[in-house]
Amino acid sequence: MSEQSRRVRKPAKPYRRPKKDPVRILAFEALRAVDERDAYANLVLPPLLRKAREKDDFDARDAALATELVYGTLRRQGTYDAVIAACVDRPLREVDPPVLDVLSLGAHQLLGTRIPTHAAVSATVELARVVLGDGRAKFVNAVLRKVAQDDLDGWIAKVAPPYDEDPEDHLAVVHSHPRWVVSALWDSLGGGRAGIEELLAADNERPRVTLVARPGRATTEELLREEAAEAGRWSPYAVRLAEGGEPGAVEAVREGRAGVQDEGSQLVALALANAPLEGPDTKWLDGCAGPGGKAALLGALAAERGAVLLASEKQPHRAGLVAKALAGNPGPYQVIAADGTRPPWRPGSFDRVLVDVPCTGLGALRRRPEARWRRRPEDLDNFAPLQRALLRTALDSVRVGGVVGYATCSPHLAETRAVVADVLKQYPDAELLDARPLLPGVPALGEGPDIQLWPHVHGTDAMYLALIRRTAG
Ligand SMILES: C[S@@+](CC[C@H](N)C(=O)[O-])C[C@H]1O[C@@H](n2cnc3c(N)ncnc32)[C@H](O)[C@@H]1O
Repeated sequence: MSEQSRRVRKPAKPYRRPKKDPVRILAFEALRAVDERDAYANLVLPPLLRKAREKDDFDARDAALATELVYGTLRRQGTYDAVIAACVDRPLREVDPPVLDVLSLGAHQLLGTRIPTHAAVSATVELARVVLGDGRAKFVNAVLRKVAQDDLDGWIAKVAPPYDEDPEDHLAVVHSHPRWVVSALWDSLGGGRAGIEELLAADNERPRVTLVARPGRATTEELLREEAAEAGRWSPYAVRLAEGGEPGAVEAVREGRAGVQDEGSQLVALALANAPLEGPDTKWLDGCAGPGGKAALLGALAAERGAVLLASEKQPHRAGLVAKALAGNPGPYQVIAADGTRPPWRPGSFDRVLVDVPCTGLGALRRRPEARWRRRPEDLDNFAPLQRALLRTALDSVRVGGVVGYATCSPHLAETRAVVADVLKQYPDAELLDARPLLPGVPALGEGPDIQLWPHVHGTDAMYLALIRRTAG
């Protein structure tokens, strides 16, 4: 018998079925939907969670972990991509997207959560066995073992270019924003390194749910009875729910007397409603009303003053959402589906007009974790003509002495000041109003006359508002 044949053969490892972990499988499915179908995480996740919670083995803690895994992975994708790229031997674009999603989920657990290293690696490898197969799970295991060799700060020191060499690229990797977005936000914010770092960091924080108590229909006192709810910082109608608070569980929200609305949006509606007017103040228009958050607040404020609100929205299904948001409004209102650039109403019909125009949404990145990766600089060019056309129609729709509010949920200068400046060149009979005194107590609104809110300063979305008065016909 040869030496070879006498050696005891190592028994083959018995095949073990991968362990199915419903939380991570759900997180992976959500990431795939966002990646593959361009779905929005905030729309995809709730039905997946609802379905999972109908089963006995998925509780509230599982739902919280799945949500954190999905949102955290999407938000920090830029940083994780840089780390993963340093751990694989080919360009990331050559790694299959589902494999990359599993790797990102693993990287987030390792670098962005308190899940212990061995648990993060083994749970992700098990997930890979279930959703990718054993062969690719080995690759995932090898890459994650490399990722696990350092913590987030250590990795950033290795993969981000030094700030002094390329400040924007450095910030893009550290704070996980596309470089062009860093650049645009910095242009708008101005100032040095500290401010932009605070802003980018704030974009990565999950905001608390803020409610609006629609005046005449609900009070903040009522909403403050919710467990650990707090009054808003600036709007007299705002109440912030506790971390993880469920707006659907609040009676006033279910009844439409209150709604979910960022405080920045409340301030925009309030500033327009408080702008000084001479003469009648009975006809208000919201020209881009869908889905109806600002229209519902304006409608309630209009009712208190005996004014009528017309809420107009181009897309019929969104006009339906506006009608739902306004249902039960204490005063008169009308909802129509109409193109705001070719309006069915006569020029000069309104005393106050809001146009909250379609935009890149770069001011609401906290809420839409995937949005920063979807947007392209070309989107600005696509929105530009529509934004100008909608502002022109708004100015035509207001009477002499009436006020128009031009709003965006983006601080990008191409969507804010550039639009206003361009359009005002064609309207010598219109003047910008100083909007800052209309929000007493709200600090740091900019040098005026327009206002710019910021997540890191005000804790709101980065809403922009310019108020413009028609001075002659
Ligand atoms: C930023 S959203 C408005 C958000 C809304 N003010 C709120 O607070 O709920 C812009 C809206 O303008 C609508 N829109 C786009 N083009 C339009 C047009 N030509 N005329 C009127 N509305 C338009 C979009 O469908 C979208 O619902």
